[in-house]
Amino acid sequence: MKNIIVANWKMHGTREDWVSWATSSKEISKKCENVDVVLCAPSAAFSTVEEVVEGEYSIHLGGQSVHEREQGAFTGETSVSMLKEFGAKYSLIGHSEYRKMFNIKEGQLKGQIEQCLATGITPILCIGESAEEREQGKTNAVLKAQLEESLKDVHFLAEQKIVIAYEPVWGISSVASKTPEVADIEGVFSFINSELSASFEGVCKSIQLCYGGSVDAGNVERFMAELGIHGVLVGSASLKSDVFQDIVRKVNQI
Ligand code: PGA
Repeated sequence: MKNIIVANWKMHGTREDWVSWATSSKEISKKCENVDVVLCAPSAAFSTVEEVVEGEYSIHLGGQSVHEREQGAFTGETSVSMLKEFGAKYSLIGHSEYRKMFNIKEGQLKGQIEQCLATGITPILCIGESAEEREQGKTNAVLKAQLEESLKDVHFLAEQKIVIAYEPVWGISSVASKTPEVADIEGVFSFINSELSASFEGVCKSIQLCYGGSVDAGNVERFMAELGIHGVLVGSASLKSDVFQDIVRKVNQI
């Protein structure tokens, strides 16, 4: 399985920016065939990104969230079939900003993952503890609960995969008081790995583990090499074309 670099554009950009970010990402992805690039764009940018990446092999459109129902009276939401209309292959599920804004309840994310799987969208499940939970020593308990709540009894077909992105809320650049170091988080990945094999063995044969939180061109190689992960989720650095290209280039060389 190729390593993966997920850009999370959040609620940023104009049409001109989307064309420019998508085009420069496509250019670098053509030269970096060892990695998959996923552009998680706001829904207003779907058709713009689709036009740029259509027919490409290693770069894909992704959503930032989906609704847990197929369709209906859910103002402001996006269904998986809408994502599919634009050729999307992935969607973030349960990003910490989304969890907080929409006060996500137990079971909702599981429904969203099931919707993704039913339509061939690969879910990128985001998990991570807050600064307060970390200080109270609750990191593992929080991650365990988040994994259980989202994945318990979810049925994956043999060919389906899931991306699990560990993003400590305190490490996201818009709120981070300090850039996370490998030493701050390395134990967490062994916990996630052991949890996945203890409780979710056989749930999904193909799991890609990623790290997200203040990833940039200066630290990406360290995170990739020392955490033993399969990719990164990149927020603010994905809005700077040259920096994002550098990140893709570096991950491609690993
Ligand atoms: P960041 O954001 O790279 O700006 O820290 C990551 C994210 O929120 O997905």
